[in-house]
Amino acid sequence: MQLLSVILCSLLFSFASGMRCSSSMPVIRQAYPESSCIVRPFNEIPGLWKNGVVNLYNFWKLDGFKNLHRIMLQNFNTYGPIYREKIGYYESVNIIKPEDAAILFKAEGHYPKRLKVEAWTSYRDYRNRKYGVLLKNGEDWRSNRVILNKEVISLKMLENFVPLLDEVGQDFVARVHKKIHRSGQNKWTTDLSQELFKYALESVSSVLYGERLGLMLDYIDPEAQRFIDCITLMFKTTSPMLYIPPALLRNIGAKVWRDHVEAWDGIFNQADRCIQNIYRQLRQETGESKEYPGVLASLLLLDKLSIEDIKASVTELMAGGVDTTSITLLWTLYELARHPNLQEELRAEVAAARAESQGDMLDMLKRIPLVKGALKETLRLHPVAVSLQRYIAEDIIIQNYHIPAGTLVQLGLYAMGRDPKVFFRPEQYQPSRWLRTETQYFKSLGFGFGPRQCLGRRIAETEMQIFLIHMLENFRIEKQRNVEVQSTFELILLPDKPIILTLKPLHVSQ
Ligand code: HEM
Repeated sequence: MQLLSVILCSLLFSFASGMRCSSSMPVIRQAYPESSCIVRPFNEIPGLWKNGVVNLYNFWKLDGFKNLHRIMLQNFNTYGPIYREKIGYYESVNIIKPEDAAILFKAEGHYPKRLKVEAWTSYRDYRNRKYGVLLKNGEDWRSNRVILNKEVISLKMLENFVPLLDEVGQDFVARVHKKIHRSGQNKWTTDLSQELFKYALESVSSVLYGERLGLMLDYIDPEAQRFIDCITLMFKTTSPMLYIPPALLRNIGAKVWRDHVEAWDGIFNQADRCIQNIYRQLRQETGESKEYPGVLASLLLLDKLSIEDIKASVTELMAGGVDTTSITLLWTLYELARHPNLQEELRAEVAAARAESQGDMLDMLKRIPLVKGALKETLRLHPVAVSLQRYIAEDIIIQNYHIPAGTLVQLGLYAMGRDPKVFFRPEQYQPSRWLRTETQYFKSLGFGFGPRQCLGRRIAETEMQIFLIHMLENFRIEKQRNVEVQSTFELILLPDKPIILTLKPLHVSQ
């Protein structure tokens, strides 16, 4: 009976929309063109999408704001590899398979567009600030992104970034040695999250502004500390506003909105201060300096983007470039502490790379495939982004369902990373799986995909690889037994409790 209604519906649908599955249907993309000729209509996609308000209430009852990633996983288990949902005012189709991800990204169009973080655009509108590359869309996004790509993500930039990031990495190691020495116990047991946050902020600031903030020192400038607090507050206050219109919260003067505004104000103020410093320096400088001055100064000197556009994008790079890498590093250290043998394997790889490259960091980075695999593995199990999203630019067929152009389609990254149909023994942390020849087609998507992928990817990858090189060369990483950590959603995925790690020096002399 059900099959019959599916066939009837599909026929009706096909007649209505002229979308019978045949070789004369070139514009619609699908994974298995040969597999079935019945294209089911959009309205038949399983899921709860009829009453957004009721769904929002149920979502809230399940503490969905924190459990979004687990709820998605559960939905895939209930409905299969595609489901449709509406929570509050926000509606999407969710997919999980790599081959379906391929269809999705092929249909993203010239100006890929993802889910708008309404809280962030509302702040910009409220304060009359420009959108940066993270929030822009259409031709405005593309023209800015093309220029930023050259300065931020092109491979050529690595030789500029590596010395700056290496210096921060070395300072981090010196700081840990100092902490170990002061403990008097030849080890340092701590929740590293704040330290990693400072490492990430110092790194990204060094690359963007060509300027050290001094966060590896004992005394922290209160302004830098305020910036750290503002970024944490900005992420924390964003997730509740994903499902409730910020305009409403603003009108009723809700605390979450006020805190959000305060957080972004702090982030923009810090960026403004750094930008003014750079201006001052550029004015004072006479003659050509051979040293790389950082992304911001390069963009100003290039003179291809307006100052307001540069400010907006650099501030977004700064805001997006701290929690993301610090949390990924924390998860990686946690996994290495849980897998001591693997930790030794990585250490051996780093030692060999150091010897072969004679300490040339740029060269060394080309010789650490397992370390790179470890970072991919961390992003598989603990992705910063729970999902990737696109408003599709053309009609597509996924899992034999028609999805019309303009629909928001989400690829469940967290769910895909844990799917046994996609990854062999997904629960196991195995960096070597990324070295094997087994297909990696649309499986490593932690930084997104295509022209709209993470702009900071090159900085993030280099910063994290250099960090791991230095840590593995200097310390053994251990964790308390029997403490397992889960994740919680606060726009990005965070550990649900402090991760306490112990760092022990490898060399007695230090
Ligand atoms: C482990 C670290 C990081 C991860 C996993 C990560 C992940 C992502 C993801 C998934 C996206 C969306 C991509 C898409 O829609 O296809 C994104 C966008 C973005 N990321 Fe990252 N990111 C990281 C670090 C950074 C850093 C360090 C920066 C800045 C220095 C940064 C800046 C950005 C920006 C500006 C965008 C928006 C790009 C655009 O819309 O054109 N990210 N990131």
